[in-house]
Amino acid sequence: MSEQPLFKVTIDNITIEVPAGTTILNAARKIGGEIAPPAMCYYSKLEGSGGKCRTCLVEVSKGSEKDPRPMPKLVASCRTTVMDGMEVKNITSEKVVDARNGIVEFLLLNHPLDCPVCDQAGECHLQDLSYNHGKAGTRYEFQRRTFKKHDLGEHIQLHMTRCILCYRCVFTADQLTQKREHGVLDRGDHAEIATFIEKNLDNEFIGNVIDVCPVGALTDKTFRFKNRVWFLKPMNAHRNCPTCSGKVTLWNRGDEVYRVTARKDQWGEVEEWICNTCRFDTKNASEWVIEGPREIDRHSVISQGHYAGNIGTNKPTETFAAVNDGRQPQLLMDIHSVSDVNKPGNTLNKLNGPAHSNNFNNNHD
Ligand code: SF4
Ligand code: FES
Repeated sequence: MSEQPLFKVTIDNITIEVPAGTTILNAARKIGGEIAPPAMCYYSKLEGSGGKCRTCLVEVSKGSEKDPRPMPKLVASCRTTVMDGMEVKNITSEKVVDARNGIVEFLLLNHPLDCPVCDQAGECHLQDLSYNHGKAGTRYEFQRRTFKKHDLGEHIQLHMTRCILCYRCVFTADQLTQKREHGVLDRGDHAEIATFIEKNLDNEFIGNVIDVCPVGALTDKTFRFKNRVWFLKPMNAHRNCPTCSGKVTLWNRGDEVYRVTARKDQWGEVEEWICNTCRFDTKNASEWVIEGPREIDRHSVISQGHYAGNIGTNKPTETFAAVNDGRQPQLLMDIHSVSDVNKPGNTLNKLNGPAHSNNFNNNHD
């Protein structure tokens, strides 16, 4: 059996070895944390996904050991495979941060600012991105796009104005259901998810388009406006389902099941697809075997106040690596060389009352 060669790649100063053929994005996900670029269209479970949204752009500062020239432009990390000796910059590149700011601004050009009434709020990847990279104001002066309404039946609500055209739902319907009948119509400013999606609704797995949608363009009508996700308690549960694995996350308030979704991994991707019957028609707690509370990513708004992991509400007692999944910091700087605050000569706890700029200017304690 031929061994898969391993390539060494350095991302944001952290070096790892990955099998040849791995994309930069997946190599970065192996390191984890913020080293992994955001991905609004790539979905590891969907063949052909990626390359649409440009949120995952990175800078390749060294092409490979053999050809160390940097790549002339930023590249989509979900579509670029690593080379041996490659060096990549994600959050350590000013160009990348600047480009990402621009992309978020671009994605928000037509996106309505309706987070307060959107069911996706609290688990929306675009909302997270705009917190990290968005601008407070808009430079867009034109009327935002509007669309003819499409009724997708009793289970799925389409808000086309929120769609970022990532194509995930198209791939989901294509690869998971027997007959994919919706797609992206038109091009450019007129592009929209449309036509015949209505006819797709009799398919038992079409509900998964709700889980793959990174924004609130496809939401669950059986949950719509019923509650905010951060008020609900996510629980792992299963049942004996003849159609799918029956392994789901229940979103409960007290004993009441408000919503059923597939279980998602740390990148927000579905672990196992679930059927429509589990998702929409099994909302009685007695029909489920509860396994226990679902562990939620500590950065999620849902985790606020009740994160069950090692960090969050528990005070970290260890070093940076211990509270950062074993990762070392990728940037180190001497705080004293960049800041007048924290000069070793200033012993703050000896000051009588709050510190004042004079304390630092005069450099006495
Ligand atoms: S509806 Fe959602 S999943 Fe489908 S293309 Fe638009 S943003 Fe992507
Ligand atoms: S995730 Fe790479 S282009 Fe969208």
